[in-house]
Amino acid sequence: MTAPHSATKIAPFSAPKGVPDYVPPQSDEFVAVRSGLIRAATLAGYEHIELPIFEDTALFARGVGESTDVVTKEMYTFADRGERSVTLRPEGTAGVMRAVIEHGLDRGVLPVKLCYAGPFFRYERPQAGRYRQLQQVGVEAIGVDDPALDAEVIAVADAGFRSLGLDGFRLEITSLGDDTCRPQYREKLQEFLLKLPLDEATRNRANINPLRVLDDKRPEVKAMTADAPLMLDNLSDSAKAHFEEVLMHLDAIGVPYVINPRMVRGLDYYTKTTFEFVHDGLGAQSGIGGGGRYDGLMGELGGQPLSGIGFGLGVDRTLLALAAEGKTAGSGTRVDVFGVPMGESAKSKLVVIAAQLRQRGIRVDLAYGGRGLKGAMKAADRSGAAFALILGDRELEAGTVVVKNLRTAEQTPVELSNVVDYLGSNVSV
Ligand code: HAM
Repeated sequence: MTAPHSATKIAPFSAPKGVPDYVPPQSDEFVAVRSGLIRAATLAGYEHIELPIFEDTALFARGVGESTDVVTKEMYTFADRGERSVTLRPEGTAGVMRAVIEHGLDRGVLPVKLCYAGPFFRYERPQAGRYRQLQQVGVEAIGVDDPALDAEVIAVADAGFRSLGLDGFRLEITSLGDDTCRPQYREKLQEFLLKLPLDEATRNRANINPLRVLDDKRPEVKAMTADAPLMLDNLSDSAKAHFEEVLMHLDAIGVPYVINPRMVRGLDYYTKTTFEFVHDGLGAQSGIGGGGRYDGLMGELGGQPLSGIGFGLGVDRTLLALAAEGKTAGSGTRVDVFGVPMGESAKSKLVVIAAQLRQRGIRVDLAYGGRGLKGAMKAADRSGAAFALILGDRELEAGTVVVKNLRTAEQTPVELSNVVDYLGSNVSV
């Protein structure tokens, strides 16, 4: 007989370059981090929004900024079968704005407060903490320009990280000004930069997006721009008052920050309050989250001229930051109770007991496949369960089951008819 498929062995597949997998046991930690960050947002009344993974390419070009690295170098763009240019979302804010406008959410009560979680895609050079598929938890609060709201957004991010046990990070904050002071500042900075002996590419950058030159990591450029005029020293009265009020609220809440007047974000839509959470245990990719206000974005995308503010927190980098601090998130256990049946009748009984325990919210797994006692007990230990339920013919006959406390090794025979209640009051769910 010939095999239905060719017998030639193919090399095993790997995930695409720069794309992390999260497999057990780490996946438990991944979910705990994501849920912890979302929980901080829902505690402040942010509602979930689920958006497409791909959108019209033009949405991102317009929303994120034509001159950003994200748009010029990093987008996963392709023509679909109908010859439409679509792009895997590189970030969340532009898509949220699109959906808010499309569904008229901005015509209801303001601010519209939304949160989201999921994968984003950037064709970056992969390295530790820099992936081509990255995971974020984000929020957007749209339609109200109130410094107290800026402080809320920042405090939610801070609380999210702290709820996971992280504390080795700092919040850097600045103001990027508004329409009334940014254009003048831009000119002033450009004038300063164009007097410097810059190479041609940097000179071009100074012409297109001068702020980005302040982000140049080369020591010679850093030295030349050390005395560059800063936005923070050139704010209009209203932008200055807004920034001071944000800081006042952060002080009152007890969220520590450092002012970084040279902060440059990778996306073009930011105005006024702009911030980053930086973790020193991560090496070059130290940004665990970032965000800010974006006053012109909604108008730019065809909606009402409403302002907004939000953040994106990197789930992948938060996991790395926890590891750097020697901490973990998640329960670290797969189940609470593990059933060990000795024989077919015992298995049938335990299948039913397991279903009853699960109805009470207790996590239960069983040793399937007729494993011996030793193998089954090993599986029970590996599952992280607090209790094993050991059931053989002898116990069945006596109408009992042995409940073994896997932490203390203490064994207690419990009536079969009572075991669900017994575990119900001994397992904390
Ligand atoms: P972003 O600063 O580009 O902002 O990304 C937010 C966070 O996502 C970063 O701080 C970082 O933790 C994580 N991240 C970004 N790129 C990568 C990567 N290649 N690999 C791993 N993690 C990464 C935004 O995306 C804005 N949409 C945030 C926002 C919302 N601003 C206002 N509203």
